[in-house]
Amino acid sequence: MKFFLDTANLDQIRAARDLGVLDGVTTNPSLVAKEGREFRPLITEICSIVPGPVSAEVVSVTADEMMKEARELATLAPNVVVKLPTIPEGVKALKRCVDEQIKVNMTLIFQPAQALIVAKVGATFCSPFLGRLDDICHDGMALIHEIRQIYDNYAFDCQVLAASLRHPLHVVEAAKAGADVGTMPYDVFRKLLDHPLTTIGLERFLADWKKLDPKR
Ligand code: E4P
Repeated sequence: MKFFLDTANLDQIRAARDLGVLDGVTTNPSLVAKEGREFRPLITEICSIVPGPVSAEVVSVTADEMMKEARELATLAPNVVVKLPTIPEGVKALKRCVDEQIKVNMTLIFQPAQALIVAKVGATFCSPFLGRLDDICHDGMALIHEIRQIYDNYAFDCQVLAASLRHPLHVVEAAKAGADVGTMPYDVFRKLLDHPLTTIGLERFLADWKKLDPKR
């Protein structure tokens, strides 16, 4: 499974990149607004730090307006992926983006039929939001399983991007369900490496090693 960071924060993106396992970044209007910086220069900077796909979301709600934004965002860097909302106008814009060879991540997916449609039209990524389904007492992980099955049945190229991951178990379960990508906040990403027995084990190894020669 590829690891994407779900943030527009440059320090977090650099820190994750330095660990050597960062495959891409997803942003959304709420995450960009938190940074208090101009949108386009921020996306350009993120794209220069991360070699993989960087999703940048449009904020229009008509296909024509979305296309204006999509074309502009696609010129910022070769690794920009335009993020479109999964609404009828977004699907229309997706078709036009596919015709113009602009890569698209279809966002705000909450049921399998939406995922089927965006794959048929040619999205590069589909983003089901697990955590937000869990928040309203629906089974977010079941959606990943359903989409995986549908995409495998028809050999769709569209990558399942498990989004709205809230804790390490979501990441592990999404990997078990066959998600192609998991996008997560930095604190979830960082927690993936933590285990108290790892910390205690290392402390003991180092303490025992020191006993060999007290001057070490
Ligand atoms: C994905 O692309 C979204 O930006 C994100 O995963 C949403 O997560 P949230 O539900 O925690 O805001």
